[in-house]
Amino acid sequence: MSTILQRATKLGRQSFLRYSYRASSTSSKSPLNADNQPKTGVQPSYGPLGVTAALKASPNDPPPSPTIFKHEFSLADRVALVSGANRGLGLEMALALVEGGARAVYCVDLAKEPGDEWLKVRDYASKMQGTGGEGRLEYLSGSVTNQEEMWKIGELIGEREGRMDICVAAAGVLKEHTPCLEYPAKQFRDVMDVNVNGVLFTAQAAGRQMARFGNGGSIVLIASMSGSITNKDHAWVSYNSSKSAVLQMARSMACELGPERIRVNSLSPGHIYTSMTAAYLDKQPHLLGKWASLNPLGRIGRPDELRGVVTWLASDASTFCTGSDIIVSGGHHSW
Ligand SMILES: NC(=O)c1ccc[n+]([C@@H]2O[C@H](COP(=O)([O-])OP(=O)(O)OC[C@H]3O[C@@H](n4cnc5c(N)ncnc54)[C@H](O)[C@@H]3O)[C@@H](O)[C@H]2O)c1
Repeated sequence: MSTILQRATKLGRQSFLRYSYRASSTSSKSPLNADNQPKTGVQPSYGPLGVTAALKASPNDPPPSPTIFKHEFSLADRVALVSGANRGLGLEMALALVEGGARAVYCVDLAKEPGDEWLKVRDYASKMQGTGGEGRLEYLSGSVTNQEEMWKIGELIGEREGRMDICVAAAGVLKEHTPCLEYPAKQFRDVMDVNVNGVLFTAQAAGRQMARFGNGGSIVLIASMSGSITNKDHAWVSYNSSKSAVLQMARSMACELGPERIRVNSLSPGHIYTSMTAAYLDKQPHLLGKWASLNPLGRIGRPDELRGVVTWLASDASTFCTGSDIIVSGGHHSW
C-alpha cells in the first residue's frame, strides 16, 4: 500500500471513530455521556447507579430499591481462588466471599486433605444455601511455590466453572526471630519462595484465567503492615522484605493488567490472632499487651475484621481501585 493510500485509510478510520464517538454523546466537548458517566471505560451491566440513577428516575417509575449491596457489593456468580485457605485469614476471607454471593471459592493449601476447621466452615457455608449465600467452598491441595502446579489449578477451575473473577493470595510464612547479620541463606530463600514467588504464581494462576475469559477480575495480594514498617523489637528481615516485595508486585501487576480490566491491589493487615501469630503470642503472652499498645485502638485485630475489606476489593464496589495498598492495622501506622 502506498504511503498516501495508507494515510488516506488512516484518516478515514479516524473520521469514522470521531463520528461514532459524537453519535453516542450528548455534546462532543463533554467528557460525560448521556448517563452522566465518563465516555471511556466499561460501564456496569446493571445500569446507572447512585445520583445518576436518581436524576434519571421519572415520577411514574416504581419506587426504587437500594442498589449498593444488591449490585456493587454483590459477588453473585463470581468464582474465586484463595491460597492459604485451609485456615486463618485465607479461610476467613474465603467464607466472606461465599457470603458475598460467590458461586464457588476454591481454597488452595499444602495439606493433602483439608483440616477439621475447613470442613466445619464448608458445612456451615453450605447450610446458607437458599438464604443468600448460594455458593460453595472447594478444597484443592497444592503448593504456591510450584508455578506449574498453580497454573494447572487455575486451568482446572477455569475448565470447571467457565470463569475466574477473584483471587486472594493469602498463603504466607513467618519464621522465628533471627538477627539479620546471621540470617541463614536457606531460611531467607524459603520465606521469599512462599511469600513472594508463591504470591506471583497464585496471581498468575488466576490472572491467566481472567484474561482468558475476558470478564476482568480482582486480584488481592495479602501483604502486611510489615511491608511498610518494621515491627518493633522483632528480627523478621525475611518476612518484612517479602511483604515489601508484595506491595510493589501489586502496583506493577496493576499497571500491566489495567487494560484487561484486571485490578490488582494489596491488603496489609496489622497484628491479628491466627496460628501464625499464636506461634509468638502463646509462647510469650506479654507480647499481646505490647502489640495492642502499638496502635490507637489498643488491641490486636480479629480475622473477621477483614471480611468487609476483602468483599469490597473483590466486588464492583471498588472498580476504580487498583495498584493500591489497603492498610487494616488498627491505626498502627498513625503513630
Ligand atoms: N496474622 C497476622 O497478624 C497477619 C498480619 C499481616 C499479614 N498476614 C498475612 O496473612 C496471610 C495469612 O496469614 P495467617 O495469619 O492466616 O497465617 P496462617 O499460618 O494461619 O495461614 C497461612 C496458610 O498458608 C498456608 N501455606 C503456607 N505455605 C504454603 C504453600 N507453600 N502453599 C500453599 N499454602 C501454604 C499454610 O498451610 C496456612 O494454612 C499471610 O500471608 C500472612 O503473612 C498475617
